[in-house]
Amino acid sequence: MAELDSLEFGKSDFVLLDEVNMEQFLDNLKLRFEKDRIYTYIGEVVVSVNPYKQMDIFGKEVIESYQGRELYERPPHLYAVADAAYKAMKRRAKDTCIVISGESGAGKTEASKYIMQYIAAITNPSQRAEVESVKNVLLKSNCVLEAFGNAKTNRNDNSSRFGKYMDINFNFNGDPTGGHINNYLLEKSRVIKQQEGERNFHSFYQLLLGGSEEMLRSLHLKKDPAMYCFTREGTISNMSGDDMSNHKAVMSAMKVIGFSSEEINSVYKILAIILHLGNLVFESDGDSVLVHSEDLVCQIAELACTQPDIVRKTLLYRTVATGGGDVIDKGHSIHEASFGRDAFAKALYERLFCWIVSRINAVIEVKDYNPLLHGKNTVIGVLDIYGFEIFDNNSFEQFCINYCNEKLQQLFIELILRQEQEEYQREGIEWQHIEYFNNQIIVDLVEQPHKGIISILDEACLSVGHVTDTHFLESMDKKLSKHPHYTSRKLCASDKTMEFLRDFRIKHYAGNVTYSVEGFLDKNKDPLFQDFKRFMYNSLDPVLQEMWPEGQLSITEVTKRPLTAAVLFKNSMISLVENLACKEPYYVRCIKPNEVKSPVQFDEQRCRHQVEYLGLLENVRVRRAGFAYRQPYARFLQRYKMTCEYTWPNHLMETDREAVEAIITQHDFQGDVAYGLSKVFLRTPQTLFTLESERAALIPIIVLFLQKVWRGALARKRCRGMRAVYCIMSCFKRHKVKAHFREVEKRFANVRNMSDYGKSIEWPTPPAVLLQFHENTKYLFRRWRARQIIKNIPPSHMPEVRAKVAAMEVLRGERLDWGYSRTWERDYLSSAKENTQMCTQFVKVAKELKSKDKYNTVLFSCLIRKVNRFNKSKDRALLLTDRHLYKLEPRKNFKLLKSLPLESLTGRKKKYCNMTQENRSIFERVINRERTQLHYSTSLGLFVFSCFLHVNGVSVTCSRDQLVVFHTVQKDDMLTCLQRVQGCENEDRVGELLGVLADHFKRLKTPLQVTVQRSAIQFHMRGQQKCVSVETKIGHNQPDFRKSRGGFTLYLPGN
Ligand SMILES: Nc1ncnc2c1ncn2[C@@H]1O[C@H](COP(=O)(O)OP(=O)(O)OP(=O)(O)O)[C@@H](O)[C@H]1O
Ligand SMILES: [Mg+2]
Repeated sequence: MAELDSLEFGKSDFVLLDEVNMEQFLDNLKLRFEKDRIYTYIGEVVVSVNPYKQMDIFGKEVIESYQGRELYERPPHLYAVADAAYKAMKRRAKDTCIVISGESGAGKTEASKYIMQYIAAITNPSQRAEVESVKNVLLKSNCVLEAFGNAKTNRNDNSSRFGKYMDINFNFNGDPTGGHINNYLLEKSRVIKQQEGERNFHSFYQLLLGGSEEMLRSLHLKKDPAMYCFTREGTISNMSGDDMSNHKAVMSAMKVIGFSSEEINSVYKILAIILHLGNLVFESDGDSVLVHSEDLVCQIAELACTQPDIVRKTLLYRTVATGGGDVIDKGHSIHEASFGRDAFAKALYERLFCWIVSRINAVIEVKDYNPLLHGKNTVIGVLDIYGFEIFDNNSFEQFCINYCNEKLQQLFIELILRQEQEEYQREGIEWQHIEYFNNQIIVDLVEQPHKGIISILDEACLSVGHVTDTHFLESMDKKLSKHPHYTSRKLCASDKTMEFLRDFRIKHYAGNVTYSVEGFLDKNKDPLFQDFKRFMYNSLDPVLQEMWPEGQLSITEVTKRPLTAAVLFKNSMISLVENLACKEPYYVRCIKPNEVKSPVQFDEQRCRHQVEYLGLLENVRVRRAGFAYRQPYARFLQRYKMTCEYTWPNHLMETDREAVEAIITQHDFQGDVAYGLSKVFLRTPQTLFTLESERAALIPIIVLFLQKVWRGALARKRCRGMRAVYCIMSCFKRHKVKAHFREVEKRFANVRNMSDYGKSIEWPTPPAVLLQFHENTKYLFRRWRARQIIKNIPPSHMPEVRAKVAAMEVLRGERLDWGYSRTWERDYLSSAKENTQMCTQFVKVAKELKSKDKYNTVLFSCLIRKVNRFNKSKDRALLLTDRHLYKLEPRKNFKLLKSLPLESLTGRKKKYCNMTQENRSIFERVINRERTQLHYSTSLGLFVFSCFLHVNGVSVTCSRDQLVVFHTVQKDDMLTCLQRVQGCENEDRVGELLGVLADHFKRLKTPLQVTVQRSAIQFHMRGQQKCVSVETKIGHNQPDFRKSRGGFTLYLPGN
C-alpha cells in the first residue's frame, strides 16, 4: 500500500477494499478522482483515470521523489511503475514491459509519454552524449509518430490510430542504447473517409496549414484543407493553430532523428500525391473510362517522379497475365478505377507510415552491441494499444482490436496469476486455487486454425467465384453454431438486436459485441492492383522505390496471394504476446471518466463498463487471493514498530520476523496472518487499517519527539559552528596581530643603520585592534628617531635646534622662507661682522641692561626699521632678552628707548589671606606695576602672581619680507622690519626671531600666538586698529614704511 495517503482520499490500493465488488470499486475510484488522486494501485498495477486537466504531479521534482523508491513508498503514480520496471530490469537484468491499455481517450498515449519522460530523466546521469542522443531520438519519435499516426476522432482530439509497442534497450549501466518500435493495424481507411466531425491524420492538416508558401507551391497544394476531398470533413474542427506549430515541431523532430532533407521532401510529396488522388474524378466517354482532370494527373506524375502517361494508365487499366505468358491491359470501370484509387491512397499512406517507423528504427536500433563486451542488453517495452471498442456499428477493425484485447487480457490474467503463484512459492506459503474467468476460449474462437473466425474469413476470401460477406456469415453460423461465445440472428432468431444475414455476436470477456460482416471480406483481402506497386517501384524517387519493393517482380511472378489483413494482424498479435510473455509485465489500466472531456464529471455508467472490460475486479480478486496485503519484514517493522512496546524504538529480538510476530501478537492478529520467508502476509485489509490508524495516532507524538531531538541537534550544531567561528576569528586576529608585528619588525630591522633612521619606511596597515597601539608605536618611533638625531648634536647647538623646532611649529609651513638652513647667530648686534663699528658699544649697553634687569641671555638682536608714535619710520636696534624686549637708538650709542617685559613673574608668595594690610597694598602695587594677575592655585594652596605679558603675539607675512608686528596687551603694537647688513640681504631673520621667541615662551609654558598672514596684517597703534601691507617699489634701496590710508605700507626695494 502506498504511503502518505490518508483514507480521506480513498484507498490507494484496491486490494484494501472491504469487499471486492463493483460498487466499492467504483466508489473508491470516484472518491479518488474527485480528490485529484488519479492513480490507484491494484497491487503493482496502476489504474489511471484521465484527469482532463493539467495536474501538478509531474516534472523533475516529483521524478526525483520516486527515483529508487519502492512501489509502496510513495503515492500511486506512473513514475512508481516506471521505476519498478526500470529497477527490475537493472537489478535483476530482467526484460520488463509496461502494458498500457484502455479505451480511446483514456490517456494511454499521455501515460506512455510520462513513462518515457521518467526513464529519460533517471538514466544517463553522466550525460554521455551518445546516450543523450538515443534518448532524444526516442522522445522525438513520439512527435513524428503522432503526426502521422494520430487523428482527431469524436472520442479523442489526439487519438492514436495505430497500436504501438516500443522496446527501449539498455546497457549494463542501465542507460538507453537504442530501441525498436512495432506498429500495429494503422487505421488506413481514415485516409479516404472520416466519420462526421472527425479528421484525417494530423499530418495532412499540418502540411496544408503549416507548410510554407514555397513548399505548398512546389507540391501544387493550396493552404485550404476544404479544397481536398480527403481533408474536407475535418475542416470544421478548430485545430489550425496546433497544426501550424506542430508542423514546425515535426519537421525539426525529423531532422533531429536523422531524416535527410530529400527524405523529408519525399514524405511531403507522398502526402500531396494522396491529397491529389482524393480529388481525382473518373468519367466515362461511353467506351472507356477517363480521368476528369488532366492537371491533377500531371501534378501526381511530377510528385511521383514519373510520366503522366504512366499515372493515367495505372489509374485506368490493370495488367492481366494471360495463360500463355502474355499480358494484356484491361480497362477499369469507373467503380473499379475509384476503388483502385482509394486502395492506392490508403496503401500509400500505410507504406509511408511503416517506412517512417522503419526509418526511426534504423536510427535507434542498437548498433555494435557485443554482449560479451558490453554485458547483457536488457529491454523495457512500452505497449500503448487501443482498448476494447464497442460501438453501435462494429466492423472488421473492432473485431481485430477486441481480439487483440482479448489476447492481452488473457496474458494479463495469466501473468498476474503466475506472479502471485510464484510469490507464494518463494515465500513458502500454500497456494489456494482461485476461480477466474479464462478467456482462452474466446481467443481460440478467433484464432484457432481451420475453426476460428479468422480462418473462416480467409477461406471465404480465397474462394473462387463471387463470395460475399453474407457467405462468410453463413459459413461461421455453420461452423461455430455450438460455440458458447458465438451467436447470430440465425442461431438466435428471437434476438432482435441483431440483423439477419448481417450481424454476428461474440461474447467477449468484457461483454457482448455485435459485429456487422459488411466489408469484412474487402477489408481482409485489402486488394491493391499490382500495377500501383510497379508504378511506385519504377518511380525515380528513391524513397518511393524503397517503400514498394514488390513492384520489382514481373507481372507473371506476382501470382502468390499476399497474407490477408486478419492473418497479418493475428500473426503480429501472437508475436507481440510471445514477446510480452517472456518479460516481467507492469500494467497501467486507463479509464476515461466521461465522454465530454470534463475534469469534474465521473460518469459511473461508463466507468463501470470500463472496469468490467478491463477485468479490474478480476485483477483485485487474483491479487487478494488469500492475502490482501504483504510486506517484507523489515519494511513492515519500520512502519508499525511504534505500535508495540517490544519493537519501539528498536527491538532486541534475533530477527525482524520475530519482531513482526511480536507486533502481530500484541494486537492479537495471529489468526489473520501468514509468515513467509521474507514477507508477512495479511489476510484482511481491516488488520492493516487497525495498524495504520494506531500508527497515525502515534505519529504526531513521534514527530514532536523527532522535532525536539532534531532541533536540539540543530542548535548544538549551530553552537559548534559559532564556537568554531569565534575560535577561527580569534586565531585569525592573533595571526593578524602577529603578522603585523612580524612585518613591522621586518621593515624596521635595519633602521639603526639607515641614514634617515627609517623615516622613509612605510608603516604596514595595522589590524583594527592595533590602531591605538600603532599610533603609540609611531609616536615612540618618532621620538626614538628624534633622539637618534638629537643625540649627535653637540649641546652648544641645542638652543638653535630648539629654536628652529619652535619656529617650525609656530609657522606650520605657512611661510615661504624662514632661514632654517643657516646658522642662527641670534645676537647680530654683538657680532663685529654685522655691527662692525658699534658692536663694542652694543655689548656694553647689553651688559648694563643685564645687570639692571637681571636677564640671563640675549635671545636676539638686530637693527630694525620701525614706525614711531608719530607715524614716522626710524632705524632702531632691537634687543630681545629672556626678560625684555628693548628698543634702542643705534645712532645714540644704543640708548635705551623702550623696554617691554617678556617673562612672567610666577612664584611662591605669602598666603594672601595672612597678609597684613600693608603687605597687601605693596602687593597690589607690584601687581599693577608689573601688570601681573593674582590668582589662586589649588595645587599650591597659594595665591600666585602671573605676569601680564606685554608681548602676547607676533604677526608676520607668508612672504620673504622681514616685517614683524609685536602685539602687546596694551594694544600698542610694535611695527618693525628687520634689517640686514650688506652681504646678508637675502637672509631671513624673521624665522629666527620667531624661533627664539617661541622657544622661550614654550619653556615658560605660555604659548606665543604667532599669526602668519597672506595679505595685510592687522594691528593696533595706541589702541587704534590699523593695518600694514607689503609692496615692492622700484627705486627703494631699503625696505621702509610709508603711511597709507588704513595704516602703513612696507615698501620693498624692487628691480
Ligand atoms: N495525465 C493526464 N493529464 C492531463 N490530461 C490528460 C492526461 N492523460 C490524458 N489526458 C487528456 O486526454 C486526452 C487523450 O489522451 P490520450 O491521447 O493519451 O488517450 P489514448 O488513450 O491514447 O487514446 P487513443 O486510444 O484514442 O489514442 C489527451 O489529449 C489529454 O488532453
Ligand atoms: Mg493514444
